[in-house]
Amino acid sequence: MKGVILAGGTGSRLYPLTRVTNKHLLPVGRYPMIFHPLMRLRRAGVTEVVVVTSPEHMGDVVNLLGSGSRMGLDLTYRVQDEPGGIAQALALTRNFVGQEPFVVVLGDNVLGADIGHEIKAFEKQIRSTGSGARVLLKEVHDPERYGVPEIIDDRIVRVIEKPSTPPSSYSVVGIYFYDASVFSLIDALKPSERGELEISDVSNRYASAGTLTYGILTSWWGDAGTFDGLEEANKLARDLYYEELGSEAAR
Ligand code: G1P
Repeated sequence: MKGVILAGGTGSRLYPLTRVTNKHLLPVGRYPMIFHPLMRLRRAGVTEVVVVTSPEHMGDVVNLLGSGSRMGLDLTYRVQDEPGGIAQALALTRNFVGQEPFVVVLGDNVLGADIGHEIKAFEKQIRSTGSGARVLLKEVHDPERYGVPEIIDDRIVRVIEKPSTPPSSYSVVGIYFYDASVFSLIDALKPSERGELEISDVSNRYASAGTLTYGILTSWWGDAGTFDGLEEANKLARDLYYEELGSEAAR
């Protein structure tokens, strides 16, 4: 399975830390933030990966990661010219992905456990039904910060982006599994009130079609895109991956 890392955006919630540096290059534990989603993919056997970032930061990201060979990855890059939302960034990976199901990880998501079993669950879904998408949920105390699923009879009926009255105590975490039909769904999306193509609207298309499945994360998980999230991720991921990567990967 191929992988996608979305590392664009302005990082405005972390200003001024992100005035000259891309959010995904800020430190989380012993590594730049973006190492965390990349390592989760590598550990799950996903080594062919595209990284999407902005023109301002592409140089730094490529300087850091290069071809990916030091991390055992085969990296490709795509430029998101203007920040227009996560789904807009995803649309740029269409030619890289081709016709096969794939996995997307947001570049600021830091995770305490491997996702290999979730990839297998999605592969099984595709084998048995031929299509669909899968999201991962995590129970949180502040769901209003995230995309939140409304669940009826064990099914996600819709996902609401940053609701003031959350319909459940779950967050949709930044790891998504899609079939290749996601790209034509994105073509038909309209920008949200904040002018972005929302990833939650993508989930809603699959939810309406009855083809959205989910798994529940039991490990710790963090979105390092805010000060609180960054601080927490730094604590939780303090020594993550050091045994296998050491300091070599950054040379
Ligand atoms: C994004 C998504 C949101 C999701 C979150 C997970 O939000 O829009 O649905 O729950 O990532 O990290 P952002 O952190 O970009 O505001």
